[in-house]
Amino acid sequence: MSEPLVLGIETSCDETGVGIVRGTTLLADEIASSVEQHARFGGVVPEVASRAHLEAMVPALERACATAGIKLDDVDALAVTAGPGLAGALLVGVAAAKSLAVALGKPIYGVNHLAAHVCVDQLEHGQLDEPSIALLVSGGHSSLLLVPDITNEVVQLGQTIDDAAGEAFDKVARVLGLPFPGGPYIDQAAQDGNPLAIDFPRGLTNPKDLEKHRFDVSFSGLKTAVARWVEREQATGNKVIVNDVAASFQEAVVDVLLRKAIDACLSNDVNTLVIGGGVAANSRLRTVASQRCAEHKINLRIPSPKLCTDNGAMVAALGSELVRRGRNPSSLDFPASSAMSIKLPVAH
Ligand code: KG4
Ligand code: ZN
Repeated sequence: MSEPLVLGIETSCDETGVGIVRGTTLLADEIASSVEQHARFGGVVPEVASRAHLEAMVPALERACATAGIKLDDVDALAVTAGPGLAGALLVGVAAAKSLAVALGKPIYGVNHLAAHVCVDQLEHGQLDEPSIALLVSGGHSSLLLVPDITNEVVQLGQTIDDAAGEAFDKVARVLGLPFPGGPYIDQAAQDGNPLAIDFPRGLTNPKDLEKHRFDVSFSGLKTAVARWVEREQATGNKVIVNDVAASFQEAVVDVLLRKAIDACLSNDVNTLVIGGGVAANSRLRTVASQRCAEHKINLRIPSPKLCTDNGAMVAALGSELVRRGRNPSSLDFPASSAMSIKLPVAH
């Protein structure tokens, strides 16, 4: 069989994504975001996101087919994010994909959003090494994974014990009066700041914590430390230098994530690190990761920033890999699963 043509649909949060890939070649990646509708609430409002997905779905499908130069009937399989994510938002994508699968008579794969964040790297850097270590950092998740086979076997080594990395960026941005979602704004503000200005805490890195939480991360202490620091400065009448706070906070997050990720590579004797998820778009994380991986002779793979944040191409990429490996499609009654475990790359 020639390389499979797969259409992927993503609706787990506030981005309606439709991607089309052939094998590992990206043909279309259409995204409609409802982020502006959530900004005034300082976080994603599930009902608003669901309605926006409904409105955006058909136009996004049409644009993706036009960009890829295909008809819906040409696709070999459909893939859709089955979870984890917002239940109502997931349902819109799952219902759309199931309808297409039935109407077109094509197989459907209900895929794991986190596995898709890892697999998308294949669209730019070729076949994933097996095993790889994956650092997955998004608005809802922060996990360190050992990935022997992204279609079938993913082992969680560690995760956040409180806030996700992206959540910490978003909360700290709020403290600093920056817009939602905060990650890109902190990244921007930090460009003109001093990362050594304030020595913020590195959670779960002292020897005692490492005994129990070697590959886990924690950002809630850091978030509180930033808030207290800002309050103290304001109380004493000092001007808070937003650029320095942003840079110092970002440095603490990046340092901890990479210490743990490199340790996971070295201790598991794995020499490829893949970084995925929205926070992987962070410019400082990308720079420090390439420095530290070079020091340890670890092969670093990070998708370009546009493919790090939520999109349909990542879902199509994982769908395509499932087809290429001859994995069974999902049954038509697979559920939208808001808490889908990373141990399950595809729904049954
Ligand atoms: O993967 P994603 O698009 O959605 C989820 O699955 O959660 O990740 C969104 C998260 C948000 O918290 C956002 O602030 C963060 O990724 N983010 C960034 C950057 N771009 C997006 N965080 C730090 N630096 C960035 N440049
Ligand atoms: Zn995501």
